[in-house]
Amino acid sequence: MSTDIHGADIYTASEKAGIGKDSILDFSSNINPLGIPDSVKNAAINSIGQSSRYPDINSRELKKSISVFENIPENWIFPSNGAAEAIFRITFFLRPSRGLVTAPAFSEYENAMVAAGADVDYYCLKEENDFKIQDDIFNKIQDCIDIIFLCNPNNPTGQLIERAAMEKIICACKEKGIYVVIDECFLDFSAHKELYSMTGFLHKYDNLIILKAFTKIYAIPGMRLGYCMSSNKRIIEGLNVSGPPWNVSSIAQAAGAAALTEAGYIEKTVEYVSDQRRYLFDELKAMGIKAYSSNANYILFRLTDTWGDIDLKEELLKRGILIRSCSNYVNLDSSYYRIAVKTHEENKLLVMALREIAGIR
Ligand SMILES: Cc1ncc(COP(=O)(O)O)c(C=O)c1O
Repeated sequence: MSTDIHGADIYTASEKAGIGKDSILDFSSNINPLGIPDSVKNAAINSIGQSSRYPDINSRELKKSISVFENIPENWIFPSNGAAEAIFRITFFLRPSRGLVTAPAFSEYENAMVAAGADVDYYCLKEENDFKIQDDIFNKIQDCIDIIFLCNPNNPTGQLIERAAMEKIICACKEKGIYVVIDECFLDFSAHKELYSMTGFLHKYDNLIILKAFTKIYAIPGMRLGYCMSSNKRIIEGLNVSGPPWNVSSIAQAAGAAALTEAGYIEKTVEYVSDQRRYLFDELKAMGIKAYSSNANYILFRLTDTWGDIDLKEELLKRGILIRSCSNYVNLDSSYYRIAVKTHEENKLLVMALREIAGIR
């Protein structure tokens, strides 16, 4: 596997920069800066003792917790080994001939489709529209398409799709027999997520599948835990047999169930991330960097001509900081970068390094 397709690869970065991986300040992966809640850590630790048994193949306790949290029946839920596994299972089960993705978007939608033998069509998000979806997406919703992946808020742009627009898309797709996968993995970081989540529409549309992850919001990417939801029984049953059993470890199941009892953690995160995102956004702007407004815990930005022909990722890595170059996103280029919103102390270190590179002191 190419090591440079995603952020979060502190392992390669540490080899390249000759710095221990624990010394790298990782702004390339978008993980909750408040860290793992203690209850989640403790539940994981306490469950290690059960590792000599197989995990519950049906993730019963976890499904019960998700069902209460999302207010949906347990049999609409498929827990997965990170949201990435769900993307591949969905694609391999539905076997689309042709799929549609926005460009840019999280690359695993496309990777899964290519791996399953599908052709991929792109709806290009335009910079002049702040990378927001426009009505011309309906020109792309054609009979030849079998599946559409939409990310809300989108990674790496941070833009949200309004609920009314989303429902129009789902409706148009339903008429044409197209499945719609909405990736809400970063929606918990957005203010007023209740106005954007499509979970309340699952009962109405059996062509709708929604993806969620514990990875980002509960800061447990190393545990691998996500889930998808659909009211379509055929899909949930199909996902169960579209990959190996025991896909979610007992540690991840216990951690996930504990996470969903964390009262106030998401609200606290939204407030903290929103303050820090504003801080970073203003600092980037003050340095003459074109930053795009975001509703998630990351910011996409573009280096303007005044920065010259600089490889900012390389420059920052020399200073022990890893950011995401967006050069391999379809419809972006090497002038675009994405940074995570981290703790204030960490964000200050990034700003200082950027100022040093820019020659602003
Ligand atoms: C939009 C989006 N969806 C899904 C995933 C996969 O998440 P997980 O780590 O839970 O597999 C990522 C990971 O970066 C992502 O950015």
